Amino acid sequence: MRRRILITGSGGIGGANFVRALREGAKLENEEIELVGTDYNSYHLELPDLDYRYQTPKHTDPKFLNTLLSIIRKHKIEFLHPHPSVEARVVSENKDLFKKEGVLFYLPRPVEIAPDKEYVRKILSERGIPVPKTVKISQMEDVDRAFSEMNPPLWIRAVRGAGGRLSLMVRSPEEAKCWIKLNVMQKRANVDDFIIHEYLPGRDIAFDSLWYKGKLITSYSRARLEYPLRHISLSGITGTPSVAITIEDDRINKIGEEAVKALSPEPHGFYSVDIKEDAQGRPFVTEVDGKWHTTAPLWGLSFAKINKINYYNLTYVYIKLGYNEQINYSLPKYNLYPAGYTMVRQMDCGVIILGPEGEKWRIV
Ligand SMILES: Nc1ncnc2c1ncn2[C@@H]1O[C@H](COP(=O)(O)OP(=O)(O)O)[C@@H](O)[C@H]1O
Ligand SMILES: [Mg+2]
Repeated sequence: MRRRILITGSGGIGGANFVRALREGAKLENEEIELVGTDYNSYHLELPDLDYRYQTPKHTDPKFLNTLLSIIRKHKIEFLHPHPSVEARVVSENKDLFKKEGVLFYLPRPVEIAPDKEYVRKILSERGIPVPKTVKISQMEDVDRAFSEMNPPLWIRAVRGAGGRLSLMVRSPEEAKCWIKLNVMQKRANVDDFIIHEYLPGRDIAFDSLWYKGKLITSYSRARLEYPLRHISLSGITGTPSVAITIEDDRINKIGEEAVKALSPEPHGFYSVDIKEDAQGRPFVTEVDGKWHTTAPLWGLSFAKINKINYYNLTYVYIKLGYNEQINYSLPKYNLYPAGYTMVRQMDCGVIILGPEGEKWRIV
């Protein structure tokens, strides 16, 4: 069998990681695979190991969907994986178009992909899941209210977008107002696009989970230790970490699982949860999204390489489930990757895993 898969946004870091994990998974299994990739950016499109590559319009362009459909017809695509959440959302919204072509996909509902942070905060707190204290900004005066209700420093950010978009630690109402004013002036946002939280100084944790028709297939957690290029970023948060360590923590697993269930009545696909701890080590959910964290395919690839077991490769498992195939391996619901493994990655320097006993593996 030769699988024919289309990956959109394949030139982004997460998309390229997905392609790499898919290739390695097929190799380990001696499976043939044909990979067609798209990207909006023609330079980045050259990076992943694809059989065919196409530049596509932006997901907001009316031509985006038709371009995907014509690629699907031309290459007789069997499975469609839109990687960036903005593209996944558009595909999920237009599911029927792709169903008509007989293409398989394995995606959450549109409302579960890249949701608004204020929406997420509300549904989580309704379910009693801990979320940071928050003031939604509708007008500038709300900034003063935020500082009267919460002790500085505070954390301001945009309600939409990813990668810590427009985030900054602010110590006074003046700082927060300047930040809003500058971003409004430079047309990156409107005043009411901001939200202010209590600042959580503790661990920065990611919970990654794969679900199938409401059932949790497997999950793992890790703590982010360093971000790349943080010294030239104002917030220090540059989206995806350069150093992270696997953790096993029952509290985190429980909160992560509950957060996904709060977002979705029947989770189906890959879901990411971000959790930040306060000074006392109490966890608070800052984000839940039906998307792949950037390094999720890379963690899978790493543990599959280290253990020579393909079921650690969640990209491979996702494709098998997406093709409605049987999983002949008993995956643990939690802690798929044991604690104490550190992933170190850096632009142009590859990826290594450092084991808890001083081992070292070169992954990329
Ligand atoms: N209240 C907060 N206090 C301190 N840091 C925060 C807070 N909320 C988010 N962050 C940091 O910003 C990062 C990005 O926030 P997150 O909620 O994951 O949204 P997104 O990834 O969509 O930008 C988090 O991983 C965390 O490091
Ligand atoms: Mg996040």
